[in-house]
Amino acid sequence: MQIHHGKHHQAYITNVNTALEGLDDLAALSVEDLLRNVDQLLSIMVADMPNHSLFWTIMSPNGGGNPTPEVAAAIESACGSLEAAKEQFVTAATTRFGSGWAWVVVDETGSIQIYSTANQDSPIMQGHTPILGLDVWEHAYYLNYQNLRPAYIEAWTNVINWEEVARRYAAAKG
Ligand SMILES: [Fe+2]
Repeated sequence: MQIHHGKHHQAYITNVNTALEGLDDLAALSVEDLLRNVDQLLSIMVADMPNHSLFWTIMSPNGGGNPTPEVAAAIESACGSLEAAKEQFVTAATTRFGSGWAWVVVDETGSIQIYSTANQDSPIMQGHTPILGLDVWEHAYYLNYQNLRPAYIEAWTNVINWEEVARRYAAAKG
């Protein structure tokens, strides 16, 4: 996790900064080419940072266990039970082909949803507020788990900082 944070994330920030410095290069593209790639361009440049910023805060060496009562109630009302929610989350994280993120979000109606997004895409792009997110890019787990994404996901549930998730849930509910 330290390498993931210190090296990969830092490299990403450096790349974004470099990309921003290089805006002159973008000006050289045709308007059509810019438009064709603008979603991808924007999400690469912008979404990756809030994804990781959330990720680092919702983990703790003393994490794990169950969600706080308020979050647990919201999850149970959306998914039936905490077990069903965990299964849904693990499935979302495991079946995301290639790189991406698995999420627990508060949607536009204030309900919990669990799903995954591709690459660096953020739930914020569809108007949802993420309260829990798991990086399932291979760079997140290859050092300890090689290609064993399910083992990484299972181990990760033991470091979830539910206090921070509760704080984010309360903020999302307003
Ligand atoms: Fe990452």
